[in-house]
Amino acid sequence: MKCDSELSMNTIQDKSLQVSQHHEPDIAVILVGRGSLYTQQPAEELSSLADELRFKHPTWLVTEALLEQGGPSLPQALESSRRAGAGTAVLLPVFMPVEAATRNWLRFVAQRWQRQSTAPLEILLGDLFNDSHDVADAAVQAVSRSLVSKTTLASDSGNAGTPDPDWSVIPPHAYHVLFCHGPRCTTAGAAELGAYLRKRLKDAGLDRGPGHVLAARTGCLYPCNLGPVMVVYPEGTWYCGLGEDAISRIVDCHFLNGKTVSANAFHPSPHRQLSPNSQTPPLESLGEE
Ligand code: FES
Repeated sequence: MKCDSELSMNTIQDKSLQVSQHHEPDIAVILVGRGSLYTQQPAEELSSLADELRFKHPTWLVTEALLEQGGPSLPQALESSRRAGAGTAVLLPVFMPVEAATRNWLRFVAQRWQRQSTAPLEILLGDLFNDSHDVADAAVQAVSRSLVSKTTLASDSGNAGTPDPDWSVIPPHAYHVLFCHGPRCTTAGAAELGAYLRKRLKDAGLDRGPGHVLAARTGCLYPCNLGPVMVVYPEGTWYCGLGEDAISRIVDCHFLNGKTVSANAFHPSPHRQLSPNSQTPPLESLGEE
């Protein structure tokens, strides 16, 4: 999977270079999307939309950037646009919804790159577009609108374009929980159980202070057939086959009294293991994907 991601990133960058060798574009359009931990599909769809845009508007230098879980990053795309000779770059978010916090983050990243860049590049922010009939046409119109309205990073409405100061804090904590929200654990109820865990921690006063349990959501942790799964550090205890009862016991015994709940505690092993909820053997595809 790592190799696929690297290949995809290289392919995107190669395309940018190919375009830059044939044009001296003044306008760069950067389609900003979100990647995925599990599939190349979002990057591939972004790439295909970029191809359509290049076809519809050959004078624009169209590149792609992923905000998370893949590349190239937005600073890489800005840099390749500048090197290709663009004087203006339009950032076009192509995911839904574009929350205010995400738009502010996008602006912050672009402004930080702009401050560090040695050559000028005007950066405009495109507005949201949504046209189920022809997404590429809708993208062309969104870019054209932003070129007319000249919505720059500084003029975009919203707050100051600086990250939340809390993002610089590592909260002191007694336990760190990695709670899997991968596809199979989610199917088995991870979202509801994660909310239940957060409620139980809050009720027990463990969401802050000296006993703080810092709970983080993650992608697939690997033993999907044993899900829902969470791992508790510093002990490195794997809790599998979770339900509300098990989570309550873990809060009361492990987090409040330092005692492992053995009924749901698993140890890393090269051998397949059975979920406490299931008497059926795990699938052949255990952990792969
Ligand atoms: S989806 Fe949770 S361990 Fe794979």
